[in-house]
Amino acid sequence: MFSPEILAALRESPELLAELMQADLSAAHILPLLTQLRKSYPPEIAAAALETARLRQKATAKFSRAADMFFTSEALQQASHEIIARHHAQKLACFDRVADLGCGIGGDMLAQTTHVTGIDLDSTRLHMARHNANVYGVKADFVQADLAQPLPFNNIPAAFFDPARRDERKRLFSVRDYRPPLDIIQTWCFDALLVKVSPGVQIAEIAYLGAGIEFISHDGELKEALLHFGQLQFSGRQATILPEGETLVPLGYEPPSLTDAPRRYLYEPDPAVIRAGLFSEMLAHLSLNAYRLDEDIAYLTGDEWIESGWLRAWRIDDWMPFHLKELRKVLRGKNIGQITVKKRGSPISPEQLQHLLHLKGNQHATVILTQLHGQPIVLLSYG
Ligand SMILES: C[S@@+](CC[C@H](N)C(=O)[O-])C[C@H]1O[C@@H](n2cnc3c(N)ncnc32)[C@H](O)[C@@H]1O
Repeated sequence: MFSPEILAALRESPELLAELMQADLSAAHILPLLTQLRKSYPPEIAAAALETARLRQKATAKFSRAADMFFTSEALQQASHEIIARHHAQKLACFDRVADLGCGIGGDMLAQTTHVTGIDLDSTRLHMARHNANVYGVKADFVQADLAQPLPFNNIPAAFFDPARRDERKRLFSVRDYRPPLDIIQTWCFDALLVKVSPGVQIAEIAYLGAGIEFISHDGELKEALLHFGQLQFSGRQATILPEGETLVPLGYEPPSLTDAPRRYLYEPDPAVIRAGLFSEMLAHLSLNAYRLDEDIAYLTGDEWIESGWLRAWRIDDWMPFHLKELRKVLRGKNIGQITVKKRGSPISPEQLQHLLHLKGNQHATVILTQLHGQPIVLLSYG
């Protein structure tokens, strides 16, 4: 859809794109709009303009300058959020040149403060990356090349590598299946290298690389694992929360001790903390006392209310061993009709529980299904 000629034509029609960007582009409006546009533009330009406006609207969630950028649907989906890209770029800012290997439409390179060389196999994405780099005023050059072949330069000290984790049909879970496969980094020789992989990556699969692993979450959602090599290497796992830009490093602390009963509050650590296993480091950072309910469950409990990007907290008004009839009785007794269900370590799905409880009242409660020393319990937070 986005040949160089079509991209050139779109670049010459900024008013059309700006106007479409303000339009209602929900499914019901697309066809009438396309029909209307086709009266003034060739069909392929009309379709590409509409698609660009639709993607720009969507991309505002990731990029502050989305309104001037170009995307394909898949490349936008794969692109790093601007805030995460900035976090990557800060780590490479001390190098005078950086390579962005598998740069796509340039989501990561837009945040680079040094000269960046973008490489990708896909010529359409490279055209878009060139345009997008201009929008952000990034000093950049581009090479269309296959990363499976020897790199087309040998004088760039640092690199960021973001292999594709999907093919045309499905998500790719093993790093061996990434495009290109992760193994390829062993043929490269950079002073510093960062590699973005799935946050769910199996640690056993990458242990042989000996990388420092940083789990990164954004707005409480786990986004990626970033592998650090060369001058950026560290040992173990770190956890970073964005946009706060705070990082926990491993200090070798023992896990928090176990408690016999839930305390006044339940804490759910940010998923980056959970994935990095840095519970005690987080508690020390927050000067918070807390305990585990169970050896295998990532909930903590303590007596202090706390608001922090590192965890979410719920007041525990009531708790009991999990018995459906007992739970229904308690909730009905309090006239609770709407519940929000949270769970860790329970086989029951929120939908199943809603259905089984069959509540009718007009009050709300958060119902938390979890375990205390391996036994199913339920925690209730009213209001
Ligand atoms: C996850 S995307 C990169 C996204 C980018 N970091 C961003 O934020 O926009 C991976 C990119 O790797 C490219 N790619 C996949 N296999 C490649 C190969 N063998 N050589 C070069 N690029 C490749 C894809 O075309 C795709 O653009």
